[in-house]
Amino acid sequence: MSYALERFSEEARAAIAATGMVPAEMIELATPKPNIPADLAFPVFRAARELGVAPPRLAADLAAAISPGPGSLIGAVEAAGPFLNFSMHPERIAEAVLGEIAAHGAAYGHHADGAGKRVVVDYSAPNIARRMHVGHIRSTIIGQTLVNIFRALGYQVIGDNHLGDWGTQFGTVIASIMRYGRPQAEGEAAMEQLEALYARYNNEMKERSELEDEARRWSLALEQGDPEARAIWQWCVDLTLKAAQKNYDRLGIVFDHAYGESFYEAMLPEVIAETLHSEAAYRDADGSVVAELDKLPKFIIQRSDGGTVYMTRDIATVKFRISEFQPSKIVYVVDGRQELHFRQLFAIVRAMGYAEGVELVHIPFGIVTTPDGQPLSTRKGNMVYLESLLDEAVARARAVVERKNPELDEAEKAAVAEAVGVGAVIYNDLYQDPRRNISLDWERMLATEGNSATYLQYSYARCRSILRRVEEERGGAVAPANLALLTHPAEQRLLKHLARLPEALREAGARYAPFVIAEWCYTTAREFGVFFEQCPVLKADTPELRAARLALVEATGTALKGGLALLGIKAPERM
Ligand code: ARG
Repeated sequence: MSYALERFSEEARAAIAATGMVPAEMIELATPKPNIPADLAFPVFRAARELGVAPPRLAADLAAAISPGPGSLIGAVEAAGPFLNFSMHPERIAEAVLGEIAAHGAAYGHHADGAGKRVVVDYSAPNIARRMHVGHIRSTIIGQTLVNIFRALGYQVIGDNHLGDWGTQFGTVIASIMRYGRPQAEGEAAMEQLEALYARYNNEMKERSELEDEARRWSLALEQGDPEARAIWQWCVDLTLKAAQKNYDRLGIVFDHAYGESFYEAMLPEVIAETLHSEAAYRDADGSVVAELDKLPKFIIQRSDGGTVYMTRDIATVKFRISEFQPSKIVYVVDGRQELHFRQLFAIVRAMGYAEGVELVHIPFGIVTTPDGQPLSTRKGNMVYLESLLDEAVARARAVVERKNPELDEAEKAAVAEAVGVGAVIYNDLYQDPRRNISLDWERMLATEGNSATYLQYSYARCRSILRRVEEERGGAVAPANLALLTHPAEQRLLKHLARLPEALREAGARYAPFVIAEWCYTTAREFGVFFEQCPVLKADTPELRAARLALVEATGTALKGGLALLGIKAPERM
C-alpha cells in the first residue's frame, strides 16, 4: 500500500529518470526550505558535477524536459538556480488524500512494513507488593504507545509485563505479613500498607537479629516451593495485579503476557551453566558467577551463596522470548537508570550466542519532577503513585469541563473528564523525547491552548461539532463535494499535513519516538485552527465549497483521532 506523498515522490523520481539526463542513483530528493513554494526538491549539484554541466543549466534542462502526465500528483516542475522544484497538483492531492482517509478510516497511515515479523515489547513491569510509581508509569505509557505504533506498522507485537515478582525481598514481605497480619485495604491503599509493613519489619530487624533469620527462612521456603510461603506470595501477586489492572484499564493498557520474573526460576540453573559453558562468565574466587564483558563493569549472575539475581532472570527471559516468539527485535522500555544493566545484559546474551540476528533495544526514559524541577522521591515524601495521579488529573479535568461546557449531562461530563484527565497524563509522557525529564505541571498539561492533549481533544471535538450541526440542519444531506475546490493556502497546508501521517508513523517506529506522532497531532490541530479561522465552513460562499470544506473537516477529525489513538488518547465527540 502506498500513500499520496510516497506516490508523489516516486512520480518525481520517475519523471527525472525518464528524461535520461541523470542516472537513477544520482537522484536524491529533499524537502525544500520552508520559504520555498514547493513540496519536493532535487538539488542537482552532485549530478551536475559528475556530468560536467553547470547546476542551473541541468536544473533548467530537466524542468523543460519534464511534463507531468494527466492524473499525475505533480502539478508544477520549476528550476530555481541549482534546484529542480516539484509542487503537488492542488486538486489531485486533495482528492487523493481525502480519498485515502475516507477509505482507511481509523487505519489511515498504517503500513504493512512489519508483515511476518515479530517484536516483543517489555514494559510497565511494576514490582509486587509495591505501588506503581512514576518510573513504572512512564514505562507503561511509552511502552503501550510503542506497541500501538509497531502494530500499526504491520508487526506482530507481543507485549510482556515483566513483573518484579521474585527476589530475596519477598522473604521480608512474607515475614512481615506473618508477623503483623495481612492488609485489609484495596487498591493502592493496600499496596501502601504492604510497603509500610515491609519498612516496619526492616526497622525492627535492625534491633533484633532473629527477624533477619526469619526473613531468610521465608525467602528460602518460597524458593523451595513451601505451600504456605507460596500462598502468601500468590496473595501479594493477586492483590498487586488487581490494583494495577484498574489503572491499566483506565489507561487502555493491554498485555499479551505477564510472565514475571518468577516464571524463569526453573530455567536458572541451566542458564547459569550456559553462561559458564559459553565462557561468557566465570566463577570468581568466592564461588560467585560473574561476567566482565566489552569493558563494562563486572557484574554478578549468581551470588556466592547460590542465590540468583535480577540479571540472571533477565538472561533467561531473553532465551525464552527468542525460542518462544522468534522475534526480530526485543524492546525494553525501562528507566534510564538501568542503562548499564541493559548494556551488560545485551553483552552477555550476545557472548552466549542467544540473540543471533535479534535486535535488542533499550528505550530509556528520564525522571518525573515537580513543576520547578525537583525530582520526586519516596524519601522526600513527594513521590507520586499511579492511581492517585490519575484521580487528581481527572478531578482537575472535571473543573475544566465544568467551565467549558456546563450544559453536558452528568454521565457525559464524567466520561469527558476521564478522557481529558487520563489523556493529559499520557500526553505529558509522550510529547517529547522519552530521555527528557517530564514535570507534573497541571496548568500546562490541561491547557486548552498549546501543546497539550486537551487542546488536541478540543480540536477533534470542534470537527465533530461542525459535522453535527450539518446533520441536525438537514439530516446530513450535503451537496456532493468537489474536492478540487480546496485550493485556499490554508486548505492546502492542512491537506498536505494530513498527508504526512503515514511517514510520521514510519519515523516514529524507526526512532522509537512517540513524540513524532504527538508533533504530527499538534501541527494538525494548529493547521486546522488556521483553516477554521480563514475559511468559513458552514457559511462558505457556495454549497459546493461548503461540501468540500466539510469533507476536509471530516478527514481532519478522522486522521486526528487516529493519531491520538496511536498515543492511547481518547477523543470525545463533545467537550
Ligand atoms: N521491575 C523492574 C523495576 O521496577 C523493571 C523490569 C524491567 N524489565 C526487565 N526485563 N528488566 O525496576
